[in-house]
Amino acid sequence: MTTPQGYRLVSVDQTRASEVLHVDAFAFAFTVPDKDAGFIQDVLPWERTRAVEVADPVRGTEGTLAAVHASFKFGTRVPGGREVPTAGLSWVGVHPGHRRRGLLRAMIGDHFSRSLARGEAISTLFAAETQIYQRFGYGMAATEARVQLGRGVELRPLPGSENLIVEVDSASIERHGPTIASIQSRMTRPGTVSTLAPQTLADVLMDLEIDRDGSEELRIATVRDGDDPVAWALFQRKQEWGDTGPDGKVRVRAWGALGAAATVRLWGVLADFDLMSATHAGRFAPDDPLLLRLKDMRAAKITLTDNLWVRILDVAEALEARGYAADCDVTVQVDDSFLPQNAGVWRVLVAAGEAKVTREGAADPASADLRLDVQELGAAYLGGTTITELTRAQLVDERTPGTAAELSRAMASDVKPVANFGF
Ligand SMILES: CC(C)(COP(=O)(O)OP(=O)(O)OC[C@H]1O[C@@H](n2cnc3c(N)ncnc32)[C@H](O)[C@@H]1OP(=O)(O)O)[C@@H](O)C(=O)NCCC(=O)NCCS
Repeated sequence: MTTPQGYRLVSVDQTRASEVLHVDAFAFAFTVPDKDAGFIQDVLPWERTRAVEVADPVRGTEGTLAAVHASFKFGTRVPGGREVPTAGLSWVGVHPGHRRRGLLRAMIGDHFSRSLARGEAISTLFAAETQIYQRFGYGMAATEARVQLGRGVELRPLPGSENLIVEVDSASIERHGPTIASIQSRMTRPGTVSTLAPQTLADVLMDLEIDRDGSEELRIATVRDGDDPVAWALFQRKQEWGDTGPDGKVRVRAWGALGAAATVRLWGVLADFDLMSATHAGRFAPDDPLLLRLKDMRAAKITLTDNLWVRILDVAEALEARGYAADCDVTVQVDDSFLPQNAGVWRVLVAAGEAKVTREGAADPASADLRLDVQELGAAYLGGTTITELTRAQLVDERTPGTAAELSRAMASDVKPVANFGF
């Protein structure tokens, strides 16, 4: 991967924090007052933060940063209850004065090779704009439902859930970081960030004045079963008054729950604050217990959107790292223009939930049972989008009848994937 002429890829450490923030502030159109700018020190994983620097005066002042990105180190829950080492791409920004010169493309190449060198078989991200990352092989692996819950939304009752203990507090990494990490580590839904580094927690709990838009500081609701934390939610309320009285809004930024009782208890609180008329939230998997327990799902004004995007960096390692729901033995021709080492024919042999994935070196690519782009493999990786669905959409080419269904059954997950917080 070549860096565009006049630029060079560099590592950046904390001493260049304000320069990194400067680039992202220009890229994402926000301004952080100097007094609040220190947050970036805690949020970025500095040993995994990279930038593109101006190397030639024709491009600008030599040594200034033109583009930045970082990748969080975490474990992602995958089908079969396992965890896969992941590079969570984030804080990607190219200064508007340097865009459309190939700097993002150069950073993605850099990100992929550094992630592979660290043994991270997949990279995931939340996309600011959905078209940006597909060209680099990221597939939409999870969708999320967004809802608007009216005050006191009615849920089908779940006996015993009212006995769970709820605490509401101002969010603090010291007080609540361990609770969030503990719940995340026990969540089984594919797509969950199950092991978090301190910087990822700091990113989740980031509470900048500029993001508040008139609402209160970041609050947290936690649910406990005795001493055992079973749910958390970060939220902010904004006071508003209408002609007929209070009309405040609650925005839930991120949340996680272990099971239906914890979910019901948590949302019973989040959707019933005094003076608030509606609660806006997302990060619901389409099969989330809350959606299934709503008495009036129309009133919740549910919309569906993209959630987590997955890029398979190492086909054999990524496919062998997850669990499978059924046996299969199929050959797959994978196209990967960005990481050619993944391209070619692979045999996926699954027995008793374990895959053995080997390269079929001598095989004529045209003889493979299925052909797909690595983007589709990423889309199917967490078991949400199925190979059968992708085949029906003609995004997978089935050459041997029945093999799409065979691989589909193996890769499918009973539980739909979702990542319950953005990064
Ligand atoms: C999006 C952004 C990172 C692109 O950076 P860039 O250096 O201009 O991108 P490149 O020149 O490397 O472009 C690479 C390819 O992506 C395409 N592309 C870039 N931005 C795109 C966008 N917003 N939508 C669709 N395609 C886009 C380019 O057309 C190019 O296509 P090609 O491969 O067919 O030539 C940059 O414009 C930016 O920082 N935007 C604001 C912040 C943002 O959205 N960050 C992403 C956070 S998830």
